[in-house]
Amino acid sequence: MNRPQYVIAPSILSANFAKLGEEVANVIASGADWIHFDVMDNHYVPNLTIGPLVCEAIRPCTTAPIDVHLMVKPVDRIIPDFVKGGANIITFHPEASHHIDRSLSLIREGGCQAGLVFNPATPLDHMDYVMDKLDVILLMSVNPGFGGQKFIPGTLAKAKQARAKLDAYEQQTGRRIRLEIDGGVNVGNIAEIARAGVDAFVAGSAVYGAGKDSDAHRYDSIIAALRQQLKDI
Ligand code: DX5
Ligand code: ZN
Repeated sequence: MNRPQYVIAPSILSANFAKLGEEVANVIASGADWIHFDVMDNHYVPNLTIGPLVCEAIRPCTTAPIDVHLMVKPVDRIIPDFVKGGANIITFHPEASHHIDRSLSLIREGGCQAGLVFNPATPLDHMDYVMDKLDVILLMSVNPGFGGQKFIPGTLAKAKQARAKLDAYEQQTGRRIRLEIDGGVNVGNIAEIARAGVDAFVAGSAVYGAGKDSDAHRYDSIIAALRQQLKDI
């Protein structure tokens, strides 16, 4: 397998919402790759955040991919709104859709990349019969709902299992599916997570927490520090 191109995806959940456009532009100018966009509905998860209108509002602030993580139930009604709002990648939790195959198709038909998200206690089997419809697998390394939680160490073993499935699929088909992780990622653990086979890293509090107090709200040094850890893997 080729060495992966690592992706750093800051979660705007920890950004300053009063300056969201600037926060999005700055984090990409500081070297990040994707904008991770956490959608919570106070139903599937116990928190309420942002929806398609906000996605549409930040769309002109960057050309970087917007990675929409849906923590809502149901998902099908809202998917086309995010397509219209300019999302590039849309992921959802299998528990939140009665028809996983259909929801994935809806995302792809909208021209976006599609993915499934696995909670810490959710088995990986849900991916088995829909591999051809997946562009990304997102592993939760915290229970979804809040930023700033601690990384659950058992996720490393799960990441290795997911990597093995994705590598087997790549060998059969030549198509690479990304393995993304979300929750508690920081400079201290990103290398170990990468060694478990992850190639895309969501980081909310670690990135936005680091630049918040600087006048310019720049994130160059934290993004560089995360990349430095990935250099020799
Ligand atoms: C949690 C969200 C995460 C969160 C990550 O439900 O899906 O994307 O913002 O935040 P940190 O990196 O602070 O754990
Ligand atoms: Zn997320």
